Amino acid sequence: MNVYITRKIPSSAKELLESKGINVKEYPKDKPILKEELIRNAKDAEGLISLLTDKIDKEVIDSLPKLKVIANYAVGFNNIDVKYANSKNITVTNTPDILTDATADLAVTLVLTCARNIIHAEKFMRDKKFEGWKPKLFLGYELRGKTVGIIGAGRIGIETAKRLKSFGTKIIYYNRSKKIDFEKELEAKKVTLKKLMKTSDIISVHLPLNDKTNCLIDKEHLDLMKSSAIFINTARGEVVDEKYLIRLLKNKKIFSAGFDVYFEEPNVNNELYKLNNVVILPHLGSASFEARSKMAELCSQNIINIFNGKRALTEVKI
Ligand code: GLV
Ligand code: GLV
Repeated sequence: MNVYITRKIPSSAKELLESKGINVKEYPKDKPILKEELIRNAKDAEGLISLLTDKIDKEVIDSLPKLKVIANYAVGFNNIDVKYANSKNITVTNTPDILTDATADLAVTLVLTCARNIIHAEKFMRDKKFEGWKPKLFLGYELRGKTVGIIGAGRIGIETAKRLKSFGTKIIYYNRSKKIDFEKELEAKKVTLKKLMKTSDIISVHLPLNDKTNCLIDKEHLDLMKSSAIFINTARGEVVDEKYLIRLLKNKKIFSAGFDVYFEEPNVNNELYKLNNVVILPHLGSASFEARSKMAELCSQNIINIFNGKRALTEVKI
């Protein structure tokens, strides 16, 4: 059996596969593989470990005739045509749960970084501008008593809420279904997206990207935000009308925004670099040593299961 890995990931993935006698080839460069190269290099593969930067569309799927399983090295799987893969009896898997803590930690990092002007304050030090304590230097917001709006109460949204609750915040959420345990544990309240946008001091986005969530947080919703609001997105850029959000930030209509993901990733809207009320990170949600190595092992285990005629541990359901 052959597995192709589209980019260097922690070596535990390859080691686990090879320990089961599976041949592994990987793309040697640390940049996204071109579609033509992927098709050429993976043509004998029964298993593929793909990244969120690889578009696995009909053309790729049709060009890899032996493929049985696509193990995406990510929790999100909007880069894969899952329906089409499934129609060809190809199982698609992702890496949920094991990156939940890393991503929730990062969402909270962005909240605090925005709330307390950390980026500017740090730069101020490096620019040697510090002259001693000042009563009004870099004033920001405390979290206690604030309302946190969680958009998408999946695993990551819930873990982010738990962390923020411990700061003394009140939690409201928008989700398709009611989350009873979440409501009980955190006294969280389900509201409409409009109500959430209007009443939250801190908004954190945790939606998967799909047809229903694409540009869900549009102009009309963004306009409802408080002038003191902090908006955080660690999910997918395409769920928000980013251009309009940038316009609001430019006109100081909200306090601040933290971006880990972008509408046209890997391209970043140039306007973002010019704004001083944003914090921009290079898609670091799952970037912990712990998560990335567990993700590698889970991808391989999913492939091994499929090769052995068993169910995958984390098959994507659409
Ligand atoms: C990261 O964005 C992921 O989907 O794992
Ligand atoms: C992702 O794992 C989520 O459900 O938030």
